[in-house]
Amino acid sequence: MAFILLNLKAYEQGVGKNAENLSSIAREVSESSGERIIIASQATDIQVVSKLIETFAQHVDSAPLGAQTGSILPESAKAAGARGSLLNHAEQQISDDDIKTGVARLKSLEMESMVCASSPELAAKYAEYGPTYIAIEPPELIGSGVSVSTANPDIVTDSIEKVKAVNPSVKVVCGAGISSGEDVRKAIELGSEGALAASAFVKADDPKAVLEDLVGGLK
Ligand code: G3P
Repeated sequence: MAFILLNLKAYEQGVGKNAENLSSIAREVSESSGERIIIASQATDIQVVSKLIETFAQHVDSAPLGAQTGSILPESAKAAGARGSLLNHAEQQISDDDIKTGVARLKSLEMESMVCASSPELAAKYAEYGPTYIAIEPPELIGSGVSVSTANPDIVTDSIEKVKAVNPSVKVVCGAGISSGEDVRKAIELGSEGALAASAFVKADDPKAVLEDLVGGLK
């Protein structure tokens, strides 16, 4: 089932009490539309957000359980209620080893992993690690309001082709600049199995109306 993942990032409108408010809106729209909506929140908000809607961490570290301080462990994200995590977002890039370890660690916890890639070549490389999802996001379009599915459809179709050639069970989704239901519809038409959005929803004057429009593109 195709879905929308809403990354709250660290926008003021998406942190703390505001994360809870946006998650309540996402829950309402998910219930009224019957569509799968996932929120990726700050680690500190997972516990609250996950009571309202399916939640992913924005990032997890590969540090082990034990005597180390300050890391976000997959085990902690799971205990707080996260069902999965983004890894290697363009705004939180990690080494190939950490991506590989993170995917394996999330899998061992029966959590979903969504590895972000900036090119079809990197998407194919990360597909070898066997994540649940590869998210193709051209960094130059992130936050631009210009949708990847319109501005660079080839990057989506190339990524799908390359990822499926490596591992057909890895699902490919796309994001960057997605602002409307039409952007989502185009992404799905290109073969994307979901869409990621952040600024269009989080920074909207009327986030509910924006989200209703976005999920309309999944139909
Ligand atoms: O994780 C999704 C994000 O990077 C897309 O951001 O603001 O272009 O929707 P935005």
